[in-house]
This record gives sequence, C-alpha cells and structure tokens, in this order.
Amino acid sequence: MDLGVFVPIGNNGWLISKNAPQYMPSFELNKAIVQKAESHGFDFALSMIKLRGFGGETEFWDYNLESFTLMAGLAAVTTKIKLFATTAVLTLPPAIAARMAITIDSIAPGRFGMNIVSGWAKGEYDQMSLWPGDAYFGYRYDYSEEYVQVMKDLWEKGSSDFKGQYFTMDDCKLGPKPSHKIEIVGAGQSERGMDFVANYGDYNFVTCGGINKPYQHQGTVEKLVEASKKSGRDVGAYILCMVIMGETDEEAMAKWEHYKAGADMGALAWMADQGSKDTTADANSTSRHINLPEGAINFNIGTFIGSHATVAKLLDEAASIPGTKGIMLTFDEFLTGIDEFAQKVQPLMQCRQHVLEAAE
Ligand SMILES: Cc1cc2nc3c(=O)[nH]c(=O)nc-3n(C[C@H](O)[C@H](O)[C@H](O)COP(=O)(O)O)c2cc1C
Repeated sequence: MDLGVFVPIGNNGWLISKNAPQYMPSFELNKAIVQKAESHGFDFALSMIKLRGFGGETEFWDYNLESFTLMAGLAAVTTKIKLFATTAVLTLPPAIAARMAITIDSIAPGRFGMNIVSGWAKGEYDQMSLWPGDAYFGYRYDYSEEYVQVMKDLWEKGSSDFKGQYFTMDDCKLGPKPSHKIEIVGAGQSERGMDFVANYGDYNFVTCGGINKPYQHQGTVEKLVEASKKSGRDVGAYILCMVIMGETDEEAMAKWEHYKAGADMGALAWMADQGSKDTTADANSTSRHINLPEGAINFNIGTFIGSHATVAKLLDEAASIPGTKGIMLTFDEFLTGIDEFAQKVQPLMQCRQHVLEAAE
C-alpha cells in the first residue's frame, strides 16, 4: 500500500476557512514537507495545478505556484520519493509537457510521473483566453486521450505522427527518451474520467466525502476496477483523504468543528459557481461533489478525524478496499502533521508495517 502526500502548492492547503492555518505556498515549505515525507518512508508526492483562486476573505488559492517547476526543484533535493506534476491539458501542448517530463526524469531518473487534468473550472482558462467554449465539457476526455497518446508516442518511439481530431503531429521529435516509464495518473471522478485512466493511465485518484467513513470510496473504486477490467489494463486506485489528528478523538473533532465555524463563504461561493458551469456533468464528477455544503470547506475530501489510533484504524480500513493501491494524504497542519503522522499513526497501521520493518 503506497502512501503519498498532496503538497500545498496553493495558500492554506485544502481548508477553505478563516480558522484554519493561514500560510503562503513556497518552495521552502514544500521542500520541507517532501523531505520529511521521504524520510518517513512516503512513496510519492503530488502537486496540482491551479490557475485561479477562489477569493473570499482568505483569498483562497489566490497564491499558487506552478506544478512542473515546483516538482523539478523538489526532484533536485530528494533521492527516493516519486514526484507527480500536473498538467492541465488546455494550457500546455503535449509535446512540451512530454519534454518537461523528460527533463525532470533526467533530474530524478525513474521518479517522475504526470497527473492529467482535463479541467472542471472554466474560470481558470477563460481568464487567459484558453477556454475553447462550453462544448469542451463534453469532449474533454477525448481531448485528454489524444494528448496522452501523443506523449506516449514521443516517450516510447522518440517521434509522433499522430493524427487525431484535436492534435496533428508531423514527424514530431523528442529526445532523449525517459530513463524509465513515466507513469500517468488521473483524478477524474466521472465515469468518463475512469474510462480515460483505465485506457491510458496507471492510477486514478478517488475522492469521496464523509467524515470517518472509510468505506465511502468503495463504490468509486469498484467503478475503476470495472473500467480497468474492460480495458484489460492494471490500474490502481489511490484514495485521497485528509487527516486531522489529536491526542483524543474529542480533541481532533474540536479542531474540525473550529475549522467549519470559520468557513470562508465568499471563497466557497466562487467554488460552487464554478462547479455549476458544466450542465452536462454526471453525478460523480468533480463539479457535482464540490458543491455539497457538509464538508465543503475541504472540497468534500473524505476526512479521517480522531486520535492516532482512530486515524490508523480508519486508514487501514480504507486501504482494505479491493483495488486500492495507495492513499494520498493532506493535512490541516502539514509541517507538524507529517511528523506526528509518522511517529504516532504510521506505526499503528497494518498496511504500512513493511515500511517500519525495512527501517529497522
Ligand atoms: C488528487 C487530485 C488531484 C487533482 N488535481 C487537480 C488539478 O491539479 N487541477 C484541477 O483543476 N483539478 C484537479 N483535480 C480535480 C479533478 O480531478 C479534475 O478537475 C478533473 O478534470 C475533473 O474531472 P471529473 O469531472 O471526471 O471528476 C484533482 C482531483 C484530485 C482528487
């Protein structure tokens, strides 16, 4: 069972609240987090790409670094941990993204992979005249499939003559080839998003809301397993969850209630408005579940709240869902949280015993 960290590339991480820790993103912060994660045996770190914040009193995500350049920097200051950068497919041509990937692979051979984001927030792209029109909502995964096919051609053959509906390559060249396979991950929750990863990716992130509901992800993981059976490819689910820890269950729950009481309603309203733009979105898609009021202060990410023993038990239960190959964590307090997790939660997790044994 792999363990990853979803690094805070944007201000305040994943808590849209005036009462949550307020901080800016920086290379130094992310370096400290990823180096700690590496030293505690985490397997990977991933950064998202966000191009427009949500505003509000906390200026939520109005401050955001860029994903590839951040991961390139982190590649140079780490030695073991795998690093995933995110491409928003509307912003970078696939031949450029493929070349950025081989560059990071040359900094960190065999440690780099790419998260493919088709996009749900029109406002991010519209502001810089990169939105192709609302019809894109309907073909974003067809576009993403062609995008990945072009990159795979370039990495595997060193050239692409791909002729598709959205991309036409004319003896497009790329070298050097990557030293190892560049893994592709996705994070779509819609059925079409699952099919996309089943056909073209290696892992898909699954995110389902709920507080202390470790089996909440099961239905979505099953959909991914079904889709990968159909495609005949081995695609694993990585569950995304937030952990909020305390010495006791009550102490941890009190933190969550405090965060909720400080919800930044202005920023949440922007997020809800963006989520309503895709009128064709299916019930599972990101734009739908991002709107739910309960838990919306952390994007409705499944959240495990409690004492160290409670959190360890919940994580073990989530990891036991068939088809799950890993868990990616976010924290309310990243710097202290990652150490606290490593010292007090990870040793209690059955599914991480191999890491502790290897360290002995
Ligand atoms: C782990 C994870 C990472 C994500 N990273 C991004 C990102 O970098 N940028 C973004 O716009 N959406 C991100 N998302 C949200 C969606 O995956 C993404 O917008 C997707 O295109 C929505 O597709 P869907 O409608 O199939 O759910 C992320 C989600 C998860 C769970």
